[in-house]
Amino acid sequence: MHFQWYPGHMAKAKRSMQEDMKLIDVVIELVDARIPYSSTNPDIDTLAKNKSRVILLNKADMADQRYNNAWKEYFEEKGYFATLVNSKSGTGVKQVQEIVNKACQAKIDRDRRKGILNRPVRAMIVGIPNVGKSTFINTFVGKASTKTGNKPGVTKGKQWIRISKSIELLDTPGILWPKFEDQEVGLKLALIGSINDNIVNTTDLALELILLIQKTYPKVLADRYGLEVSSEVLDMKGAVKLLAQIAIKRSCLLKGGEPDVDRAGGLLIDDFRSIKLGNITLEVPPAKKKEKLSTEVKSQPEETIQPEENV
Ligand code: G4P
Repeated sequence: MHFQWYPGHMAKAKRSMQEDMKLIDVVIELVDARIPYSSTNPDIDTLAKNKSRVILLNKADMADQRYNNAWKEYFEEKGYFATLVNSKSGTGVKQVQEIVNKACQAKIDRDRRKGILNRPVRAMIVGIPNVGKSTFINTFVGKASTKTGNKPGVTKGKQWIRISKSIELLDTPGILWPKFEDQEVGLKLALIGSINDNIVNTTDLALELILLIQKTYPKVLADRYGLEVSSEVLDMKGAVKLLAQIAIKRSCLLKGGEPDVDRAGGLLIDDFRSIKLGNITLEVPPAKKKEKLSTEVKSQPEETIQPEENV
């Protein structure tokens, strides 16, 4: 399966974010807890040089609990401040203020030494499309906040939202694109619905989903659809067979009684996205996969996760 999803307006968005970076102290990057590696942005390290960094593993409610903490620790080991968040319900959002303060402690101490007390830290939310930036901002901001309006000078035209005494948030989130040259990343983004479905073949996507799920959650599909599937990791031929079985079980049949794999593919993807298959995380954090997770879940092969040194 090959993805071509280079968004034309990326350069402009990146330039505008570069400008905004000059105004802020801390970058709060939202990633999707189901694909924490694939939903991070490769440019952010350069763009946010010298800024404090916070990673929010959003949609933690949709991801596998067993991996959530492992991913949090993974990011912490890389030197980030990280926490799990469900922006929709608000779970974990309260802790973000504390994490941001911790991430900015050096700046706060510096200000204090200069005699500047209670200057709020300025934050910007960034993340790939659909990761939950607007939802998070709405929940984080809540009712208590006030728009502080335009500020004179360098911040002309920028709206800041006062979250509390200690944080101001730039009201426009920075939209970033993930590692779009990586096909494996493209596949996972399509699965979570971050790439427009029109450019992806649903049946191919469903077959790739079967392969991913079988690797890590060998019983899930059998349980959900009542199939006789072995727990062996399948190859593509096996995935096609399995999709045909799902089609039959779900009465997705063509006129002659043949399994309608296209329709079954759509159904499978919908079931995955609406968590009817359960909480599934498609990427295993590399450092922890042997120690913590091998008894429960098969780990993915190395090549499905290629963390950069500075992720
Ligand atoms: P964006 O600004 O980064 O593009 O993302 P946005 O906030 O618009 O969120 C994209 C979708 O993800 C929305 O769903 C939103 O409700 C959902 N979402 C955001 N954060 C979370 C979370 O932590 N948990 C869950 N379960 N969902 C989350 P939608 O279907 O597009 O809209 P809606 O029908 O929910 O309003």
